[in-house]
Amino acid sequence: MVRAATGKFEFISFHRDFHGKTMGAVGLARLDVSQGLRAPGFFLVPRAYCYRCEFRQTYPDCDLLCTDYIRTAIKEETSGRVAGIVLEPIQGWAGSVVPPDGWIQRIRAICDEFGILMMADEVLTCMARTGRMFAMQHWNTVPDVMTLGKGFGNGFPVTAMLVADQYKEIIEKISASTSYGGNPMACAAALASIEVIEEEDLCARASHLGGILLEEMECMAARHPIIGEVRGVGCLLGIELVKDKGTREPFEKAGQLVYQKAFRKGLAWIPAGHILRMSPPMIMEDDMAMKGLGIIEEAIYETERELGY
Ligand SMILES: Cc1ncc(COP(=O)(O)O)c(C=O)c1O
Repeated sequence: MVRAATGKFEFISFHRDFHGKTMGAVGLARLDVSQGLRAPGFFLVPRAYCYRCEFRQTYPDCDLLCTDYIRTAIKEETSGRVAGIVLEPIQGWAGSVVPPDGWIQRIRAICDEFGILMMADEVLTCMARTGRMFAMQHWNTVPDVMTLGKGFGNGFPVTAMLVADQYKEIIEKISASTSYGGNPMACAAALASIEVIEEEDLCARASHLGGILLEEMECMAARHPIIGEVRGVGCLLGIELVKDKGTREPFEKAGQLVYQKAFRKGLAWIPAGHILRMSPPMIMEDDMAMKGLGIIEEAIYETERELGY
């Protein structure tokens, strides 16, 4: 769609973003050995991950130097025919990494300057998870293309690609159909999810629940030598474990132990590397969510003891 709309064919995406496992999506992300070579025309650039800035800068003094690098990449690495810049507004798989204010807006400006379409992958962040219907709303930025999934069907397998009004004809032009696209039952499930999110004001619920969890996580960070950073927006949260708060060396072993210990205590959650990721159901009661976080803290205490902290 983006290629047809722009007549260009290259793509830029960001380090550690994840967009799925089909061939095109794989080309936008970190490769592993089973995935072979990146398809031509796909370029990756550093992302604003301020806790581990690849340019060793500090926000906001950096004035978002990382976004200047996108210009360099367009000039030096691509043939100048970039069709789309693809991003996760908030990184999921990489560890609930929230970009600083201004990053998304700068990328929007670069897209406008170079006639590139901005593609926001909201598969994980959509439908109130971050306290807004779409995470892009946190930065008042409208992308040209957006993908939705996960909470969109609230358990029913349905995804969607949205395009800005001026590109809707392109969808017809490229016959963008699939065997099951537009399936009525899937559409009904998505519509029902939207209705519930709106009726029950789940955006407010996600903000509230994420807010109390993050507040407690900040207290935990002060209590624990192995917690380097806590972060999150709404119900998309992360705790980054480090060997030393000064060096910020990632602590994979601790992440594995905390994950396993909490799991054995009854917490069903996402396997971790050195970042503990949490995306609790937005409808979870406050005390249940705090109990879950309590289990995580117990597991952190036990891990610290086991690893000699
Ligand atoms: C941000 C993001 N994009 C895309 C995908 C892939 O979605 P699917 O599994 O529906 O292909 C995921 C899955 O985890 C995701 O988190």
